[in-house]
Amino acid sequence: MRSTFLSTLAVALAAATAVSSTPLPEREVSTSTLNIAKRATPLTRDGLLSEVTRLRYKYVRNLVNYQHNTGETNPLLNATSTSRLAHTKRATGTVSLQDVSNQLLWKGPFTAGSNTAQLDFDTGSSDTFFQPGKYNPGSTAKDTGRNFTVRYGDGTQATGEIYTDNISVGGLTATGQAIGQARQSTLDASSSDGISGMAFPSIAQFKADPFYVSLIKQGKLDKPQFGFGLYPQGARLDLGFFNSGSYKAPLKFTNVNKAQGFWQISGAKLNGASLGDNVIVDTGTTIVLGPPLQVAGICLAAGGVPLYQGGEVLCGYAIGTPKFTFNVAGLDVTLSEQSQLLTTQGFFKIAGIVGADIGLQNGWILGDTFLQNVYAGFDYSAGGANPRVGFALKK
Ligand SMILES: *[C@@H]1O[C@H](CO)[C@@H](O)[C@H](O)[C@H]1NC(C)=O
Ligand SMILES: *[C@@H]1O[C@H](CO)[C@@H](O)[C@H](O)[C@H]1NC(C)=O
Ligand SMILES: *[C@@H]1O[C@H](CO)[C@@H](O)[C@H](O)[C@H]1NC(C)=O
Repeated sequence: MRSTFLSTLAVALAAATAVSSTPLPEREVSTSTLNIAKRATPLTRDGLLSEVTRLRYKYVRNLVNYQHNTGETNPLLNATSTSRLAHTKRATGTVSLQDVSNQLLWKGPFTAGSNTAQLDFDTGSSDTFFQPGKYNPGSTAKDTGRNFTVRYGDGTQATGEIYTDNISVGGLTATGQAIGQARQSTLDASSSDGISGMAFPSIAQFKADPFYVSLIKQGKLDKPQFGFGLYPQGARLDLGFFNSGSYKAPLKFTNVNKAQGFWQISGAKLNGASLGDNVIVDTGTTIVLGPPLQVAGICLAAGGVPLYQGGEVLCGYAIGTPKFTFNVAGLDVTLSEQSQLLTTQGFFKIAGIVGADIGLQNGWILGDTFLQNVYAGFDYSAGGANPRVGFALKK
């Protein structure tokens, strides 16, 4: 396997450098592929509504981190909406967050110090933290003396201490990576050992670079790129390259507006309707989420039935299957029936396109429902100055 060979080569080169008396500039540049996996159990309708709640708090947390880091309010924040949410108990279904959080996301092995755990690779956040008991700081760890707290909507939270440590992902190593060690967490730890964020530094609570930025800055990646193929079979995360063997070339690119901290794009459409300028590509979200009224309109026009659940709009269908075609970076992507169907409610099948106000200005989030249908290439070129994201249909 290419990745294993290159990783082995990188280690051998590093060892050779170490014994040399006049060391060459260290540059163990490489690429690697991780096999990643998702829990196969389908969502319930209540689980779906809990996912919306989880997202609401995830994004509010990102926007708060941004404010702490920059001293400015994130332009994506809809303050009317978030203040309203803070005072309203929303209808979110009866399944607690513990039952669904972290279980639907894409996870793979991540090593910090001598600890290897299954973390969710999440392009919609920027910190890496381990659930309690999954990270024990060893000799390579440094305690920063700083604590962190991540609060979730239903009162669950994770709190702990921030370390820096050497990390290894797919055999690629970086030093001094900020790692959160949760001392306490009321989240369910049964299916995922933590989260590893892959958005931009400005939304990191730890005020530190996400691990992929560390790899890039330390010269460990062949190219400043990573690619996700979130395929039902053979899902992969490619680090340092885009694997042209797993998509129908070419990747079509669009510029990313990173000013708000996200892999945020404009110009996308769904069934011809513009999704506006605030479209976030998020591997850590199960669904596609958009403004309730717009989702209801698109659902109806496609032959579905908008189902109002509290403030949320689900798109149901019973007879016939509505067709949803996204146009992203000029590429048409029609959802496969398998990726489109999220759960059922009575007679209705429920599509993975959900309308909900999560406190973003007219925001759309392109999660798993969409991403399962494409290879997505994230390009941090020019030191992150001109990031792009590219899409191609999967092979
Ligand atoms: C971090 O949390 C621990 C445990 O609650 C506490 O003892 C310590 O004082 C906190 N450190 C800081 C810098 O707040
Ligand atoms: C961890 O990083 C430090 C600092 O670069 C380095 O000296 C050390 O060799 C690394 N340890 C391991 C086990 O990779
Ligand atoms: C902001 O939130 C309010 C209240 O939820 C909503 O009515 C309004 O449409 C939102 N504005 C934008 C630009 O999303």
